[in-house]
Amino acid sequence: MATPSSHSAPDSESDLLARVRVHRVVPRHIAIIMDGNGRWARERHMPRPFGHRSGMKAVRAVVEGCLEAGVEWLSLFAFSQENWQRPETEVSALMSLLEEYIAREAAELRGQGVRVRVFGDLDRLSGPAAAAVASLMNDTRDGTKLGLNLFISYGGRAELVRAARLLAVDVQAGRLAPEDIGEAEIRARLFTAECPDPDLLIRTSGEQRLSNFLLWQVAYAELYISAVLWPDFGRVALYTAILDFQQRDRRFGRVTV
Ligand code: IPE
Ligand code: IPE
Ligand code: MG
Repeated sequence: MATPSSHSAPDSESDLLARVRVHRVVPRHIAIIMDGNGRWARERHMPRPFGHRSGMKAVRAVVEGCLEAGVEWLSLFAFSQENWQRPETEVSALMSLLEEYIAREAAELRGQGVRVRVFGDLDRLSGPAAAAVASLMNDTRDGTKLGLNLFISYGGRAELVRAARLLAVDVQAGRLAPEDIGEAEIRARLFTAECPDPDLLIRTSGEQRLSNFLLWQVAYAELYISAVLWPDFGRVALYTAILDFQQRDRRFGRVTV
């Protein structure tokens, strides 16, 4: 029988968090492609939206895990531009869940000091969903502990097209000369202009592709593919990914001595 002095399991949340903290370098910015909700539901003989609903709990766990580990920025891919091509029943279930997530979590996020920003082609959202997103951003705008970027109706190429158009407008207006366009000028016109590039990009459910997420920003991110399906992803999986990141040798093209 367990006694108060007995050791907890080696991979318990608190053990992993302690190990993460021992290491000096915690990723400042983690990006996650939250994948596998449909397969999680199918394993349970349930419809796909059941998996999406369960995925909301994982979002909460990961936000809390980032706060505890001292991560400054968390970018979550919640709905891609390409996901609009899914059956209308699934799309509307996802949009309802977005509204439900905001209604349920806004006060908590604000209390935790989380500042939420939502990026993507938000013009495609329904009126109520767009209003919920706007109020979430407004309600949490003073948060300073964690910047949470939610990518909804988002595509990495579309973000680059948008940046190109913004540059063209500045050139046309005579504010910018073409020869002055460099990486900094593009970067400044991305949704993520205010935050550093992701240090660590996690994709769940074992898929090994970017699916059009943050194409510019992940140039030097460390990639971590987790076999865990998103609804089962939580602090243990997050801390395991961070510990793996902490063993990486980030060379940025240089030679390490
Ligand atoms: C990720 O889970 C959530 C969204 C893309 C909206 P999926 O719905 O892609 O789940 P799988 O990949 O079919 O298991
Ligand atoms: C990527 O997952 C988009 C999100 C996680 C929101 P998908 O399930 O849509 O990606 P593919 O179709 O497997 O590439
Ligand atoms: Mg998927």
